[in-house]
Amino acid sequence: MAENIGNYPERVMEGVRSLPDVLRRPRALWKWVLDNPRLPLTILAILVAVPLLLVPVDLFLGKIYHPVAEEKLFGLMTSIKDDARLDRRKTQVRWLLWVLAAGASASLLLMRMPEIREDILAEEGQTGTADDTVLAKPAMSASIGPKGRYRLQEEIGRGAMGIIYSAMDSVLDRPVAVKELPHHFTSDPDRYQRFQREARTLAKLAHPGIVQVFDLIEDEGRHFFIMELVQGGDLAEHVKREGQPSVPEACRLGISVSSALSYLHAEGVVHRDLKPANILLTRDRQPKLTDFGMARFVSDSGLTTEGAILGSPRYMSPEQAGGKEADHRSDLYSFGVLLYWLLTGRTPFDGDVASVLSQHLTRPPDPPSTLNSEIPGDVERVILSLLAKDPGEREQDLTDVTVTLRAWSETV
Ligand SMILES: Nc1ncnc2c1ncn2[C@@H]1O[C@H](COP(=O)(O)OP(=O)(O)O)[C@@H](O)[C@H]1O
Ligand SMILES: [Mg+2]
Repeated sequence: MAENIGNYPERVMEGVRSLPDVLRRPRALWKWVLDNPRLPLTILAILVAVPLLLVPVDLFLGKIYHPVAEEKLFGLMTSIKDDARLDRRKTQVRWLLWVLAAGASASLLLMRMPEIREDILAEEGQTGTADDTVLAKPAMSASIGPKGRYRLQEEIGRGAMGIIYSAMDSVLDRPVAVKELPHHFTSDPDRYQRFQREARTLAKLAHPGIVQVFDLIEDEGRHFFIMELVQGGDLAEHVKREGQPSVPEACRLGISVSSALSYLHAEGVVHRDLKPANILLTRDRQPKLTDFGMARFVSDSGLTTEGAILGSPRYMSPEQAGGKEADHRSDLYSFGVLLYWLLTGRTPFDGDVASVLSQHLTRPPDPPSTLNSEIPGDVERVILSLLAKDPGEREQDLTDVTVTLRAWSETV
């Protein structure tokens, strides 16, 4: 509690910084309010409470400022009048209460803004990046962990579930990346558990195509995990910066992602949020999967729809879009979307969230070669097979996918 109060000005400021992004999407904001009626109801309750509170306050003031008896005409007549200060005090108290109520309502609203913003971005399938100027910069040079082991340097990324910093591990003297659970989620047990589960899932995996995790720590109520720093940015940023890759380069990237996915599935893990912003590139352009915030071990109970709305609509499989179970075949579909995007510069389905979801469920994708005539026929067949609506009809064997891609890739 004490910490929440301590955080208060910072949280309000973060809310102010999130405002432009949220206000630019009034429809999404409205939808958020409808989905989360607790906040508007609290504000309404505050506003209704003020007039109710005024009744006892008026009574109380009436008791303090007694009516005054005035004598007129040489003490012969006395008249009883209200103390002139009573009305003044009543007005002052009214103003004070309304200002307090408005302030409380506004700050409640502002403190939820970052969360609203993250939810809206997640629904739109976007993540913030270091270029995102509306986002907060971290408290630079903060040190976290035992004996201040990790020195935070700068914010390098941000998504729906975390803020990523580059940092220096002062014990091993090497750069690392730190993911922090945004502090407006620290009191949300579901988000906190998901955050912990992400680190623990990553800790069980070891593959050159998957980011490595080193540590999970709590520091003064903040939650972090430490992982390897991948220095070439994510695939979404890379393509934005460098332009669309050639067919051989796209196939080379596809082979590496396919190999990481094969390993993941063999270990019984489903990623469930495969998309360019969750694929990091090393300086020599080797992809590494990250963001296991939605990942599940197949053996876990409840491998169902939980978290589905947090996925990225454009990369979501039809079963996720339809709120059904998502198993490893769901990752295969997202991988198909990824290959489609790498080779054509577009995802198969575009539009607002509802329209994209319904297209995943019903509309066959346009063959990618209609957008890029250089795409080889067998690569197109693989992509369309991965994009089958029925999970059972999808290409199941990633080794076959790799063989096809290898024939067209730059390097082996
Ligand atoms: N280990 C890392 N090294 C470098 N950049 C990273 C690393 N992890 C994440 N990022 C950057 O931060 C962004 C958000 O991280 P991510 O784990 O996807 O968070 P979220 O779960 O909130 O989407 C990524 O898209 C990427 O640009
Ligand atoms: Mg992400």
